[in-house]
Amino acid sequence: MAMEKILTSAVGVPESWTIGSYEKRGGYAALRKALQMEPAAIIDEVKKSNLRGRGGAGFPTGVKWGFLPRESNVPKYLVINADEGEPGTFKDHLLMELDPHRLVEGCIITGWALGMRACYVFIRGEMFQEAHRVQRAIDEAYRAKLLGENILGSGLTYDMYVHMGAGAYICGEETALIEALEGKAGQPRMKPPFPAVVGLFSCPTIVNNVETIAAVPTIIERGGEWWAEQGCERNGGPKMYGVSGHVRRPGVFEASHGVTLEELIFSDEFAGGPRLGKDGKPKKIKGVIPGGASCPVLTPEELGVRMDFDSMMSHGAASASKRPEWVDEQLWTDSLSWPGGRPRGTMLGTGCALVMDEDVCMVRVAANLAHFYHHESCGQCTPCREGSGWTARVLDSIEAGTGTERDVELLLEICNNMEGNTICPFGDAVAMAVRSYVLKYPEEFYLHVKQGGCPYPHW
Ligand SMILES: Cc1cc2nc3c(=O)[nH]c(=O)nc-3n(C[C@H](O)[C@H](O)[C@H](O)COP(=O)(O)O)c2cc1C
Repeated sequence: MAMEKILTSAVGVPESWTIGSYEKRGGYAALRKALQMEPAAIIDEVKKSNLRGRGGAGFPTGVKWGFLPRESNVPKYLVINADEGEPGTFKDHLLMELDPHRLVEGCIITGWALGMRACYVFIRGEMFQEAHRVQRAIDEAYRAKLLGENILGSGLTYDMYVHMGAGAYICGEETALIEALEGKAGQPRMKPPFPAVVGLFSCPTIVNNVETIAAVPTIIERGGEWWAEQGCERNGGPKMYGVSGHVRRPGVFEASHGVTLEELIFSDEFAGGPRLGKDGKPKKIKGVIPGGASCPVLTPEELGVRMDFDSMMSHGAASASKRPEWVDEQLWTDSLSWPGGRPRGTMLGTGCALVMDEDVCMVRVAANLAHFYHHESCGQCTPCREGSGWTARVLDSIEAGTGTERDVELLLEICNNMEGNTICPFGDAVAMAVRSYVLKYPEEFYLHVKQGGCPYPHW
């Protein structure tokens, strides 16, 4: 059933990025309402809404806000993570380009709720149009006295700044982003202390994703309970999903958190199914990366999973392929489960799925990703810096036909040793992604080894 569009309501609206268009659609009414509310009541609404961070980790937003000290002798900051560097992810850019005032309004309400002084929007360096639109929206908001001193007579003084990154994937990690904002190399910090206590310029800071904060005006306007009801248990609201790759209608789609991956890919309301082959029939899907490159790949049998944070975490490994007899039994078992025995699932991540059909070589996909991670590793932690390059070289060798069965085992060993041994989750992302291709498609790795090369065409 088609649901009301909230986060994508600006699509198709002429000049939707201007303040005039936004106000015609009811924009800034939520801010006026919020300024009449006690800040604590706003945090309560966000807690009730079950809004979970849309940057990938799915941390409950209201709970995160609660970590910020109420009283502080130093300024408190909001930082918007608009880096959107996760391969396959392209939802935040749409909000910034078409509905930047929704983001600005969310930032001001958050500033009021959390007693902040200023907000920095950290935008990926390549996103010129998006940065231009957000800056223009900020300028319009200043002119309308919605930013600056004593906003709408409330006593709130709040400024917003756009800062453009230099296009490094690691600067999406919140502490690397803070370092970059401070003018240093984008390298993640050790945690604790968490940014809510020691963040930007050593002051208490909340880092939130663009889509997370864009949800705030509607939560205030309609109430936290309403937002929670639009999703499923513990995962509130509508969400922006992306589907790209081998489908008929790639794009950004808004749906309830309760939608399944299968519906997003096959329904005509969304991506419209796999692309057609030369015979005019839909091609078979071989695998889907559910929410950005770091999320373990799913097989066609696993697509019935619901696109919420909890379902994705508990889904995936149980149906992984049977252990091939040439892979060590203990190594296979260790790779399937977290230390302690809980089966590894996949992740919702950013909710932007990448569909791969039968023509795709899964060894080449894993190699491609490993090269990306190796290039983007900040180099601070040895397991990530060396492990990402090592996996890339082993995968290249298997793809080129010079790899052995032992090399496939080696990939699992490297991944298992990398995980949990780095300052930030980047190393885990490399391990989780690369390992999933070996676990789900071992027969393809075997074919490369036995045949002495890649069985798929090279374009
Ligand atoms: C390597 C790496 C890259 C990341 N890239 C992004 C990104 O581009 N955008 C984003 O919002 N979060 C990204 N994150 C997650 C952030 O660290 C952080 O969890 C998020 O901005 C918090 O906002 P949220 O609670 O609203 O999701 C990344 C994390 C890692 C480890």
